[in-house]
Amino acid sequence: MEEVPLVGHIAGWASRAFRTDVKSAETNFKRLCSLVERVTPPHLNMPVGPSDGDEPVSHIGICECPQFTIGVFIIQSGRSIPLHDHPGMTGIIKVLYGTINIRSYDPCKQNDIKYPPSSISLDHLPLRVYKNDDVTATPESGCQTITVDSGCYHAIDAVGGDAAFLDILSPSYIGVDCTYYKEWHPNETTDHPNETTDHPNDTTDHPNDTTDNSATNGSDTGKVNDDGQSADVNGDNREMSWLIKTLHPPDFYTDSIRYTGYPVEHLM
Ligand SMILES: [Fe+2]
Repeated sequence: MEEVPLVGHIAGWASRAFRTDVKSAETNFKRLCSLVERVTPPHLNMPVGPSDGDEPVSHIGICECPQFTIGVFIIQSGRSIPLHDHPGMTGIIKVLYGTINIRSYDPCKQNDIKYPPSSISLDHLPLRVYKNDDVTATPESGCQTITVDSGCYHAIDAVGGDAAFLDILSPSYIGVDCTYYKEWHPNETTDHPNETTDHPNDTTDHPNDTTDNSATNGSDTGKVNDDGQSADVNGDNREMSWLIKTLHPPDFYTDSIRYTGYPVEHLM
């Protein structure tokens, strides 16, 4: 009987974690993380080292179905995956080689939303978010997780050399747009042509969008400083920020590299 390699077990437990009922999902997710922590480039039959191409980021698709996707992102030294969202998703990141820096934000609880001055167009309302401390991750760091409440807006940089990480997301991006963001300050205008919300990659109704109509119903419970800047911490002393949608950054593009490791589709 053929021995199933680690990547096969990862696909199988991803299927158990993301395709089964809620009762066992948490246990299966922990089991999945424990397997992902062990994965290294040889498990995926992928080389380690500088890539040949000019693309800042390469992607290796290992498997994908509506419930989850497994792949690898390779980021060239000094390049980044720009700030983007994971609407309604759970995710796992495990560095395979190199070092990444993760800058992430959590969606804000409604009571902590402090809306900016009324000059903001409702069509361009920013998101109020908590800013997390940056995380530097290496192959020894274990898994970094994303949930709908934590880290679901993030940017990832390769620092000190090329870096690669395994990326598991549930559900997959099938039928879902990825939206790009940038930090925004209340004294900035939002009518710059690069910040419209009608770009094909932009969504205006994704589930993480907390910029709902409560902006107009007098629910502003926050503080705005005299200079128009929002206060940058909330009652829990968490640093807060604003994000606003932006177009797909022109200097960010990817190429696809064929996966040559153990095929896992039959284990999903
Ligand atoms: Fe991401």
